[in-house]
Amino acid sequence: MRCVLLFAWLTLRVTAAKCSASFFSSLLPQNYSLSYASHVPENGTFTDSWADGNATSLPEGCAVGLQVQTANGSQFQMAMYLPSDWNNRFMATGNGGFGGYTAWISMGALAQYGFATLSTNTGHQSSQLDGSWALNNPEAIINWAWRAMHMGVVIGKNITTGFYNSSIQYSYYAGCSTGGRQGLKEVQEFPDDFDGALIGAPAWWMDNLPVYGAWLGAHNLPVNASYHVSPQQLQMLAREAVRQCDPQDGVEDGIVMRPRECKFTLEPLHCTSSVNISSTCFSDAQMGTVQYILDDWVSITEGDEPVSLDADWIYDFLLNVTSYNWADLNYGMIELSNAINPGTAQASKFDISAFKERGGKIIHYHGYADEIIPTESSRYYYDHVRGAFLNSLTTVTDFYRFFYIPGMEHCTSSSMQEAPWYIGAALQPAAVQGLTYGVPGYEDRYHDSILALMAWTENDTAPDYLVATKYIDDDISKGIQRQRPLCPYPQLALYVNGDVNQSTSWICN
Ligand SMILES: *[C@@H]1O[C@H](CO)[C@@H](O)[C@H](O)[C@H]1NC(C)=O
Ligand SMILES: *[C@@H]1O[C@H](CO)[C@@H](O)[C@H](O)[C@H]1NC(C)=O
Ligand SMILES: *[C@@H]1O[C@H](CO)[C@@H](O)[C@H](O)[C@H]1NC(C)=O
Ligand SMILES: *[C@@H]1O[C@H](CO)[C@@H](O)[C@H](O)[C@H]1NC(C)=O
Ligand SMILES: *[C@@H]1O[C@H](CO)[C@@H](O)[C@H](O)[C@H]1NC(C)=O
Ligand SMILES: *[C@@H]1O[C@H](CO)[C@@H](O)[C@H](O)[C@H]1NC(C)=O
Ligand SMILES: *[C@@H]1O[C@H](CO)[C@@H](O)[C@H](O)[C@H]1NC(C)=O
Ligand SMILES: *[C@@H]1O[C@H](CO)[C@@H](O)[C@H](O)[C@H]1NC(C)=O
Ligand SMILES: *[C@@H]1O[C@H](CO)[C@@H](O)[C@H](O)[C@H]1NC(C)=O
Ligand SMILES: *[C@@H]1O[C@H](CO)[C@@H](O)[C@H](O)[C@H]1NC(C)=O
Ligand SMILES: *[C@@H]1O[C@H](CO)[C@@H](O)[C@H](O)[C@H]1NC(C)=O
Repeated sequence: MRCVLLFAWLTLRVTAAKCSASFFSSLLPQNYSLSYASHVPENGTFTDSWADGNATSLPEGCAVGLQVQTANGSQFQMAMYLPSDWNNRFMATGNGGFGGYTAWISMGALAQYGFATLSTNTGHQSSQLDGSWALNNPEAIINWAWRAMHMGVVIGKNITTGFYNSSIQYSYYAGCSTGGRQGLKEVQEFPDDFDGALIGAPAWWMDNLPVYGAWLGAHNLPVNASYHVSPQQLQMLAREAVRQCDPQDGVEDGIVMRPRECKFTLEPLHCTSSVNISSTCFSDAQMGTVQYILDDWVSITEGDEPVSLDADWIYDFLLNVTSYNWADLNYGMIELSNAINPGTAQASKFDISAFKERGGKIIHYHGYADEIIPTESSRYYYDHVRGAFLNSLTTVTDFYRFFYIPGMEHCTSSSMQEAPWYIGAALQPAAVQGLTYGVPGYEDRYHDSILALMAWTENDTAPDYLVATKYIDDDISKGIQRQRPLCPYPQLALYVNGDVNQSTSWICN
């Protein structure tokens, strides 16, 4: 016993001593330079100048920052956390929207499992909604599209093996939104980078997604038009959708579990008299606009143009302009977007057999109430991967499973439906008050999607279902409100009997 303790103590001492600028500099080839190397004590907090926020509750370890030259004077910043008590595994995480930041909040959660973790700022600094950095900046677009992630992973693995003087047993990825797209891009183009990937609500269809969103937004302009629908009225639409589409799963609890079985009709919201006011119904003119917004696609206008997440794609990635008349927007913009395919960001390769052949596993999830990325774009991707494997003996479910999360919005939360959504995935811990990582009390491969991915990759125990958790007010100190199974597509959860708030009262079918 004393021997084991001494050995553990020595390991910690060695890794703490290695956490120095001189050690990491010695590992770096040309074009890679060290930004910092900082030892962090147990339960420490860390962030850097490029970060989205603080990593908290860190296990003791080493925080490392690098600057990497890519091409033609462009560069990106990357960050790593190397816990002293390492689980022999590597896990990278991604970004959101057009965001440029090192993802320290998510890295902090992953480090607590014992992973050596990594993220990059994708080659620029910006908020998630700001694409203005891309204007006339093709190298920066490539860095954001895929290059920073891939180059970061390659050097990050070298740094990990150098630091621990030991090989990496398994390499993983977890990310949501743009992070989901970054993960799919890796699986498609660099299948050797990861053994397993947890892909959330991926913005994979980049050439269509923002243009379509802008198109919907432009259809709702100008704001003083008789047909303009306000964001408040869209809330009314959402409430009506829940009213009509909730009962199909066998329980009327405000949670839409089986939306495909609902034949939604707008008629109940159509004003029948001139006295109806806009807060309760849609006018004749507005009905046409609302029809456009249906079918899982929701985009709203803010001010006099589509939301920046959509508009900036057209300004800064496609046209290279600083103003645009939204009334001119037509189908040609989708064609232009597909022709330019900025940075080859779109992650639309359906034949991912190389990833399958190396034993790779994918768990993909998407909130059924996602207000930013259409849920059905994930189903479309999954169905097309299934199509790509039709002529082989491979069953896609042997290595790739897709889970809808009913009621979940974009990557986290279910504020309107109070549906169980939490599976410990990328970005999720930070959306629960008092939680720093994982699913406390349920550290198993059903409740924690990170553990599910590891179990499938390492032990070949496939996830036949997951269990999502909803904490009261998304605050862990208030306790669990409900748990419910998530089923691998095309199955969905169906209530059988018992307490509706217990996952065991439901089956997948
Ligand atoms: C960890 O640090 C936080 C704040 O920095 C503190 O509130 C908490 O009590 C600490 N936990 C432990 C186990 O030391
Ligand atoms: C990060 O932590 C520092 C000190 O621990 C604190 O001053 C700062 O406000 C925190 N930043 C964020 C974004 O929470
Ligand atoms: C370093 O970057 C420069 C331009 O940024 C490039 O020309 C050169 O090939 C790179 N060197 C290596 C070893 O990658
Ligand atoms: C650098 O830019 C030039 C001119 O735009 C281009 O031809 C070249 O391919 C670029 N180099 C790399 C490595 O991207
Ligand atoms: C705008 O610039 C990008 C590179 O940043 C380029 O790919 C694209 O073709 C340009 N668009 C037009 C319409 O020239
Ligand atoms: C990573 O390590 C491999 C094997 O030692 C080496 O071939 C490669 O050049 C290294 N790459 C970088 C970017 O350091
Ligand atoms: C790395 O590990 C090998 C054995 O796996 C050992 O021979 C070598 O001395 C170690 N190097 C360092 C720098 O600790
Ligand atoms: C909307 O506002 C614009 C500019 O303020 C004005 O020219 C136009 O007549 C208005 N349209 C309607 C339908 O009120
Ligand atoms: C509109 O007004 C009519 C008559 O007052 C009423 O019957 C109908 O329910 C109202 N519709 C809505 C959607 O509020
Ligand atoms: C693999 O299975 C073994 C034996 O049941 C278990 O101890 C281990 O935790 C599993 N590994 C993972 C990553 O789930
Ligand atoms: C299930 O949870 C909801 C919301 O918290 C609550 O209203 C309902 O009473 C619960 N049902 C049971 C059977 O506990």
